[in-house]
Amino acid sequence: MKPTQHIIGATALALALGAAFGSAQADDKVKVGLMLPSTGTYAALGAAITNGFKQFVAENGGKLGGREVEYYAVDDESDPAKATENANKLVKRDKVDVLVGTVHSGVALAMAKVARDNKTLMIVPNAGADELTGPLCAPTLFRSSFTNWQPAYAMGKVAAEKGHKKVVTLTWKYAAGQQSTEGFKEAFEKAGGKVVKEMTLPFPNVEFQPFLTEIAALKPDAVYVFFAGAGAAKFVRDYQAAGLKASIPLYGAGFLTDGTLEAMGDAGKGLLTTLHYADGLDNKKDAAFRLNYAKTYKMQPDVYAVQGYDAAQLYQAGLAAAGGDPSKQEAVIKGMEAAKIDSPRGAFTLSKAHNPVQDIYLRQAEGTQNKVVSTAIKGLADPARGCKM
Ligand code: BEZ
Repeated sequence: MKPTQHIIGATALALALGAAFGSAQADDKVKVGLMLPSTGTYAALGAAITNGFKQFVAENGGKLGGREVEYYAVDDESDPAKATENANKLVKRDKVDVLVGTVHSGVALAMAKVARDNKTLMIVPNAGADELTGPLCAPTLFRSSFTNWQPAYAMGKVAAEKGHKKVVTLTWKYAAGQQSTEGFKEAFEKAGGKVVKEMTLPFPNVEFQPFLTEIAALKPDAVYVFFAGAGAAKFVRDYQAAGLKASIPLYGAGFLTDGTLEAMGDAGKGLLTTLHYADGLDNKKDAAFRLNYAKTYKMQPDVYAVQGYDAAQLYQAGLAAAGGDPSKQEAVIKGMEAAKIDSPRGAFTLSKAHNPVQDIYLRQAEGTQNKVVSTAIKGLADPARGCKM
């Protein structure tokens, strides 16, 4: 026996074997890569997701799957051109166990390719790109948020029920905006309405005046928009300043007014939107979540914070099923697929394509809150068109 072998005790031997075979040790930390925007139009959304994720970890004793959490963060700037390089920093350089991100659909599509090529588990805590849980669905790809189709489809139904016949849509020209307006149109036209004009401008432009002039000339029954973050607040203020708010009802997917009502001031008052979260939901989980969020961050949570919180809950469910070992990816995946997430939005499960099956609420803006009015569609599952899983 060589002398060095004497000093290898049971723990050291296990560590050495673990390193050799790439398996995680019980005292290893879980490496979480947060790829989110911390600058630009969607900066506040990225911050809320991070807050929500960290809140769940803190409530869980600072751990996930019984292990300490080590965070690695990259500002993706909501820039699809930088997405592959940014995702590679977390996946290849930092070798994170899970990639959490992001807000912008175009960035998320590029991230998902990096994650899939490297067999890294990915949880999307916002980006609604339909493809991620459609044609690009994958065993390692999960979402704690929504598809662009889900809230939009619900608003199409609501707008038709309100008796509107002729609607104009306006959005940023990228996956989220285009899929949101398509989802709206699908439900609205199925119910007998007609989208008479679809208008777009490049992301993240906020020069809305020519579009407002055209809306005034077209005189539709209503307008449907997808905007979010700082751009949403500017749009709603401009809509009111153009004198349209009083004459042409404005509807949107709830991103229009989530986290933006304070910046809109009076212009946001009374707006009707649809989303998978609302203020005034009557459930215990939401009450506890909101109390803790307000205590920790000195502000009220929004849908983005909820999605971040639920991304952490989802990963915790996977790790718990894998005995806390992130390297047992198949077991982690099975645990996540079977999870029933006790979300502040109301409990949800995942579809076969790994997207939440969830209630979509109709909400009305009142002060700085999006107060729940009704459930527009209960247990709405994305059709997951093209997903072959
Ligand atoms: C998206 O790009 O998918 C998105 C961005 C902000 C809010 C909602 C969706």
